[in-house]
Amino acid sequence: MSLRIDILTLFPELFGPFLGTSIPKRAAQKGLVDYHLTNIRDFATDAHRSVDDKPFGGGPGMVMICSTVIEAVEAVQKQDDRPARRILLTPQGRVLDQSTADALATADRLMLIAGHYEGFDQRIIEALDPLELSIGDYVLSGGELAAMVVIDAVVRLLPGALGAEDGAADESFAGGLLEHPQYTRPRDYRGMSVPPVLLSGDHAEIQKWKQRQRMERTQARRPDLWRKYLDEKNNG
Ligand code: ADE
Repeated sequence: MSLRIDILTLFPELFGPFLGTSIPKRAAQKGLVDYHLTNIRDFATDAHRSVDDKPFGGGPGMVMICSTVIEAVEAVQKQDDRPARRILLTPQGRVLDQSTADALATADRLMLIAGHYEGFDQRIIEALDPLELSIGDYVLSGGELAAMVVIDAVVRLLPGALGAEDGAADESFAGGLLEHPQYTRPRDYRGMSVPPVLLSGDHAEIQKWKQRQRMERTQARRPDLWRKYLDEKNNG
C-alpha cells in the first residue's frame, strides 16, 4: 500500500508547486505516496475563524489555539483507518537527520502538522503526543517549509522513487559519511581536470578513491559526524 501523507496547515496553497514538481510529484504518479492537504482554519469555531490568540502570561506573538489543532488532527485521522504517525514541526523538536528520515519512510501514514505564529499551546503536544521535529537551529515563520523538507527527505527514500535503483545508497549521510566529489563532462575545464583514477576504468581503485574522499571530507568538514562514524565502526 502507498504511503499516505496528511499535511495540516494554515497555508495549503504553499504546497501545490512543491508536491507537483520533481521527485514528490513522480512518486505520487507512480502510486508510492498520496498527499492530503487540510486547512487547519476549517476547524476554527468562533465567528472570526481564529486559529491563534495572545499568550497567557504575556509575551510577544500569538499562540495556536489547542481545540482547533486537536480537532483538525482527530478529523483527519478518521479519513483513513491507518493510525498516522503524527509529526509536529517546531524549532523545539529533535533535529531531523537521515536516520529519522529512513525510519519515517517505513511508515504507512504520516501526519505533518505545521503551525504559524509564535508556537503551539502546550496542550496540543500533551493531547497528540507527536514526534516534534525541527529542521535546524534557526527559527522560520512557520512549519510549512520544514514540512516540505521532511516530505522531500522521506519520499525520495520510497523504493522506486528515484530513477536509478540504488540512487540513495552512496550519497551523503548514507553510511554516516558525506559524499565524495563528483565530476562530469568535460574532462578538462580552464585547466581543472578530472582526477585520473575516475577515468581509469579500474572499478576497485575508483571505489577505494571514493571511500577515501568520503572519509577525508567528513573528517575535515563535519568532525561531529566523523566521531559518530568512528564510534559506530568500533562498536559494531
Ligand atoms: N517552525 C519554525 N522554525 C522551525 C524549524 N527550525 N524547524 C521546524 N519547524 C519550525
